[in-house]
Amino acid sequence: MHPSKHSPVGVFDSGVGGVSVLREALAYLPHENYIYYGDNGNAPYGDRSEDEITSLTLRCIRLLVAKGCKAILVACNTATANCIHSIRAEMDVPVVSVEPALKPACAQNGSGKVFMMATLATTRLERYLALQQRMPSPSRIVNIPCPGLVNRIEQGQFEAAAFDDLFDRYLAPYEGCEVDGIVLGCTHYIFIKDAFRRAAARHLQGACTLYDGNAGTVHQLAHVLQAHQLANPNGSAQVDFYTSGDYDFYKKLFDALLKREIG
Ligand code: DGL
Repeated sequence: MHPSKHSPVGVFDSGVGGVSVLREALAYLPHENYIYYGDNGNAPYGDRSEDEITSLTLRCIRLLVAKGCKAILVACNTATANCIHSIRAEMDVPVVSVEPALKPACAQNGSGKVFMMATLATTRLERYLALQQRMPSPSRIVNIPCPGLVNRIEQGQFEAAAFDDLFDRYLAPYEGCEVDGIVLGCTHYIFIKDAFRRAAARHLQGACTLYDGNAGTVHQLAHVLQAHQLANPNGSAQVDFYTSGDYDFYKKLFDALLKREIG
């Protein structure tokens, strides 16, 4: 059946990180209904090859389209950087995607650096590197891959101190560096802002303001739905959850993250 304005919006991430974008969507567009698909059985994507990320992503998005979604929200920076063109080329529904919030971070005045912390894949991918080059002073940006963070978040770890060993490793080369902003370039990281703040306090100097692209993405979704005359006048923020992982474990985590306080 062809999707209509009453059909749900499909939200995709490799795992539970996209719940941070879904929350923003639920708050900003409460008259929509949603289907969330987390590829938890295959996360993290960030340590995988480009071919693997593309084929896993396309499989998940085909599934959401087959469930009748009228639009797709790619709530995964890694998938966006890797294969947003292939997704758009294949799907005949509108596709909106999250991207690292480099622009607002680079607009912040200061003499310090902007740290862009993301998955290994994102920090290496051409689409992301091209975005970096479009910033006013690309050399102000330091790309820091953070392998390991997503694995722990997928296991349900959120305590700030539980990430100390990983941040000690990532930030060792930048001890005492002056940093104006830190871009959370992976949707999972929104749930561990306290761990980022703690790491900044232990290793860095400067404002270290945290940035993410979630609000901008959801505003773009609203705009795209309007432009395609697909905005739902009477949805009820209903969310159906699907996962490729252990349903009971991830449904519990999903529900907890929908309610979890984000600092
Ligand atoms: N949440 C994802 C992102 O925004 C990907 C994490 C992963 O699977 O490595 O990049």
